[in-house]
Amino acid sequence: TDDFFKNIISHAKEYGFVFPSSEIYDGLSAVYDYGQMGSELKNNLKTYWWKSMVQLNENIVGIDAAIFMHPTTWKASGHVDGFNDPMIDNKDSKKRYRADQLIEDKIDRYEKDGKTDKAAQLQKDLDEAITADDLVRLKAIIEEHNIVCPVSGTKNWTEVRQFNLMFATQMGAMAEEAEKVYLRPETAQGIFVNFLNVQKTGRMKIPFGIAQIGKAFRNEVIARQFIMRMREFEQMELQFFIRPGTEMEWYEKWKATRLKWHLALGADSTKYRYHDHVKPAHYANAAVDIEYQFPFGFKEVEGIHSRTDFDLKQHQEYSKKKMQYFDPEINQNYVPYVVETSIGLDRLFLTVLANSLVEEDLSTEEKKDSRVVLKFHPAIAPVKAAVLPLTKKDGLPDKAREIMAKLKLDFNIQYDEKDAIGKRYRRQDAIGTPFCITVDYQTLEDDTVTIRHRDSMEQERVPATDLRRIIGELVSW
Ligand code: GAP
Repeated sequence: TDDFFKNIISHAKEYGFVFPSSEIYDGLSAVYDYGQMGSELKNNLKTYWWKSMVQLNENIVGIDAAIFMHPTTWKASGHVDGFNDPMIDNKDSKKRYRADQLIEDKIDRYEKDGKTDKAAQLQKDLDEAITADDLVRLKAIIEEHNIVCPVSGTKNWTEVRQFNLMFATQMGAMAEEAEKVYLRPETAQGIFVNFLNVQKTGRMKIPFGIAQIGKAFRNEVIARQFIMRMREFEQMELQFFIRPGTEMEWYEKWKATRLKWHLALGADSTKYRYHDHVKPAHYANAAVDIEYQFPFGFKEVEGIHSRTDFDLKQHQEYSKKKMQYFDPEINQNYVPYVVETSIGLDRLFLTVLANSLVEEDLSTEEKKDSRVVLKFHPAIAPVKAAVLPLTKKDGLPDKAREIMAKLKLDFNIQYDEKDAIGKRYRRQDAIGTPFCITVDYQTLEDDTVTIRHRDSMEQERVPATDLRRIIGELVSW
């Protein structure tokens, strides 16, 4: 599985999906750039989310709030005081770690060694210490279980301290007047502060939702596992505003809806599970993760949180503006409750890569052969079809270009005339293109082409004039 994960990372780089940020300067820790294929895939994932949230639900609308927000936002939201990770330093290697992560890794190791009782007991101890915010206990657990620094191998630890995850910068040119502002650590607050703007101007009636896609920033203590834990990442969040007292019903509803959404992307359902939180974040009274089985184990991809009226009440208090809704059905004013769904786009991207990358053995008795394919759902594939003239002569490229011109307004299409056709098919397999359209001598006679299907590798002959309809049907949901 370690090898499979390495394959994903190297494939993502080799085919233009994900590059380390500023790679010519040896990269920047936990920051990544999306390349020519990656940005297409990411955009398609955003569209899939946006359509299923905003377009398919009459009572959900979308916004695009700024990354910078008034600094009081983060006082009110609790992030200035409470958005912390417990960290510990190793005095020999001078490396910093998340204390809970070190313990989690030890639990994994116990499990790998078959010491399941020990693993379960340690998990229980960890949960208790985290729930109680007990930093002294965390340090004691690290000592009791002889946890060593992964770099130096020593046990020379500092105390456990809280580390705030928000990035801060300054707004305004003059040092004296400059105001400390934060890069948002979640997109959700942009929705909360706009609650009344949207409710009033959109004449929204509870229950209703506000959706948003955008960047978020966290100064993660440790960067891990490629695009799993980044310092700059993207979230797709929904805040669903409801009548107080109905939160558990909506929480269960969104929990089920969101899992269905993941499964519709084509993954095997055994790869997903729910994980209830023992200690929900400071803003929530119930929280569950949707976890995906990555090559390195089950990890969170999306969180569903019952946020009560915590955020709106806090903003009401700090801004002195009423965050109330008049409910005509029960003739009452109240501060709405909120159920949130929050998915990391980059983690979703990684689930899609992990779920799609396959190496197929195509060996026959005569010869050994294999291919590497990204079996994306056609709707999210970066390139929908490749147009390939069989040869570079006899007018085939012109004919191929003519066919491509009729498709490229509707679909992202590649043209490729270099190398033998088999080699070109393999290049398209590697970026997950669902269809290859080959233009050959017969095309010049009767205007038909072959479509080669990525997964079955089967070919069929169809009139070129039908391509737009055929591809359109195959790449829709
Ligand atoms: N508004 C709620 C919120 O932000 P969260 O559980 O802290 O909740 C939601 O984050 C999702 O954002 C996670 O499920 C994960 O997919 C993604 N996420 C969080 N931190 C991340 C990071 N450092 N890198 C990549 N994705 C991250």
